[in-house]
Amino acid sequence: MTAQGRFITLEGGEGAGKSTQIRRLAEALRGRGHTVVETREPGGAPAAERIRTLLVEGGTESWDGMTEALLHFAARREHLLATVWPALESGSWVICDRFADSTLAYQGFGHGVDRALLDALQAAVLGDFRPDLTLILDLPVEEGLKRARSRGGLEDRYERMGIEFHQRLRAGFLEIARAEPERCIVVDAAQPVDKVTGAILAAVRDRLTDS
Ligand code: TMP
Repeated sequence: MTAQGRFITLEGGEGAGKSTQIRRLAEALRGRGHTVVETREPGGAPAAERIRTLLVEGGTESWDGMTEALLHFAARREHLLATVWPALESGSWVICDRFADSTLAYQGFGHGVDRALLDALQAAVLGDFRPDLTLILDLPVEEGLKRARSRGGLEDRYERMGIEFHQRLRAGFLEIARAEPERCIVVDAAQPVDKVTGAILAAVRDRLTDS
């Protein structure tokens, strides 16, 4: 029987550099002989990508926070069933750009959706399933927004939410990391990009001894 793979998630606010780091981490793990699946949320499976289109490319209308949370969990369910769980089952390592912590941070801490509701959705959709390791890429809000703007990746919606929204988001991610230190590691994403990669590779080596 093939050994179960590992599930690693990267989280953080806008402009934290997750995509570059995911590429580098995947390359390093492949170099160590692992089969690696790179995926993302919202999305990562055909049905989930259709929900992503509604959520992130749906123009500038603002969604109700609870509606957003429901759509993210609907997309997550499809992503788990179609992509993540089968890959882990076959022994692949899965690296995911955002996961359930983003819903807690954006919809919960950011938009004020009730924590009990988010916990109930999480319990229904994930059961006991959790990432083996979550890397939270942390950097000052102004710096993240500057980076996201400079590469044209900041949507109007997030631009308009104002600095306070992004501050709540950052505080939310740090709070999640404090609450679950055995799963989460905070990485200083304000460092030069190679240093960030070094910190991530060290964290993966420390925490996932079979990496
Ligand atoms: P991305 O820009 O990292 O691809 O993510 C798309 C946007 O969706 C990003 O601004 C964060 C947001 N998002 C949520 O609000 N809740 C979630 O649960 C997830 C996964 C993403």
